[in-house]
Amino acid sequence: MSAKGLVCVVLAAGSGTRMVSATPKVMHQLAGRTLLGHVMATATSLETSGVYVVLRHQKEIISEYLTKSYPAAIQVEQDEIAGTGRAVEVSLSKIPADFKGDVLVISGDVPLMDTQTLTDLVAAHRSGKASATILTALLEDPSGYGRIIRGSDGQVAKIVEHLDATEAELAISEINAGVYIFDASDLRQALSKLQSHNAQGERYLTDVAALLVEGGHPVMAEIVSDNWLVHGINDRVQLAEVAKELNNRICKAWQLSGVTILDPESTWIDVQVTIGQDATIHPSTHLRGLTSIGANAEVGPSVVIENSTVHEAAKVGPFAYLRAGTDLGKSGKIGSFVETKNAKIGTGSKVPHLSYVGDAEIGEGSNIGAGTIFANYDGVNKHTSKIGSFVRTGSQNVFVAPITIGDGAYTAAGTVVRKDVASGELGMNVSPQRSIADWVINKRPGTTSAEAASKNKSK
Ligand code: UD1
Ligand code: CA
Repeated sequence: MSAKGLVCVVLAAGSGTRMVSATPKVMHQLAGRTLLGHVMATATSLETSGVYVVLRHQKEIISEYLTKSYPAAIQVEQDEIAGTGRAVEVSLSKIPADFKGDVLVISGDVPLMDTQTLTDLVAAHRSGKASATILTALLEDPSGYGRIIRGSDGQVAKIVEHLDATEAELAISEINAGVYIFDASDLRQALSKLQSHNAQGERYLTDVAALLVEGGHPVMAEIVSDNWLVHGINDRVQLAEVAKELNNRICKAWQLSGVTILDPESTWIDVQVTIGQDATIHPSTHLRGLTSIGANAEVGPSVVIENSTVHEAAKVGPFAYLRAGTDLGKSGKIGSFVETKNAKIGTGSKVPHLSYVGDAEIGEGSNIGAGTIFANYDGVNKHTSKIGSFVRTGSQNVFVAPITIGDGAYTAAGTVVRKDVASGELGMNVSPQRSIADWVINKRPGTTSAEAASKNKSK
């Protein structure tokens, strides 16, 4: 960007009433990130001398998140005076008084806004030498948004909020995206003249447009090319719409980079997930958080993976749940109805059926029998199980952690493994089986089982 200074103000102080939620609106999740997280990722990708985030409603929750995830952001608290104009005014009071550059304003509830659009907006504003440049969009259904009112000369005259608009103004399809860039000094002056004579009794940032125009300062509008980028989220219907669109885009991008996704409609992939070439993702699969899927891996159908790593050529599912900290080695397998958590499963090792593997380390080339439980929790603390390499554990084992099974060891079916099994040993604690002759014939006479047993006996 040019030598002229740029600061970014992110609006996140509103009450988010339309979400009807105990969670602040900008903290709602979208593809594995909060709404604010999406906006902050974009804001911090720009070259600015500061990103100012305005907070008020439920500020403790948002502030804690920002301090942890975006410590360089400058948090500004809005006072009891409401409105987007007031929000910008209080942030300007924190920006150095001698700052002569431009102020980019974006909204915490417009999550798909991207770096390219903002960079283009800054460039257009500077080459157009405007006092303010507003990002606008032409929407088929503009309801809810502020409308751009242009004068007979085609120039922006003002912005009218939906609630304050006349019939004729409501028919205008060009809307205010809530993304603007202002010359800092002109903005300061205009903000000082803001009134709150409107339907909501708030100090609207949108009124700055008319104030600038009246003062002889040119205001430009840049029409966005992709309307989804300016989709604001005010309620959960809009949240779901944007989530679906973002998911479509994420799936499409992976498909174009060499991943087979059979049914993008039922596949949900978070923004931070990575997937290797020629991996296959079957329907109804959810890849969440910081999850990474290796090349040639096969996942699904109906699999949920959270904050986990699946290495090259490994197979997961159908019907598996990989919770945080699962690391499935190259060519390994986690099969049907298996749940894992904090489990490192080595190269080529398999947990094929009906098991729970929690807090475990399994070496390479081992096989865990069907129906096995890693009993990691003693009711107070969690403990780790260590299974070596090339181990064969029998079906329906319980590994009572902490426990260690050596390389090449076996355990018998039905064993409750309470003591370590050393390398090469067979571990078993199954009581001998007893069979009582003719029990069915004597105790269940007249049943089909007794009949079948009698038939065999007379042979
Ligand atoms: C706003 C615009 C509207 C535009 C739309 C685009 C105003 C008056 N209206 O309407 O023209 O079409 O965005 O999405 O600006 N906020 C504060 N402090 C406040 C009030 C709001 O920081 O006192 C923040 C909110 O947290 C939110 C953003 O500003 O991130 C926009 O506020 P919201 O109430 O959602 O405005 P809209 O009605 O969507
Ligand atoms: Ca909004």
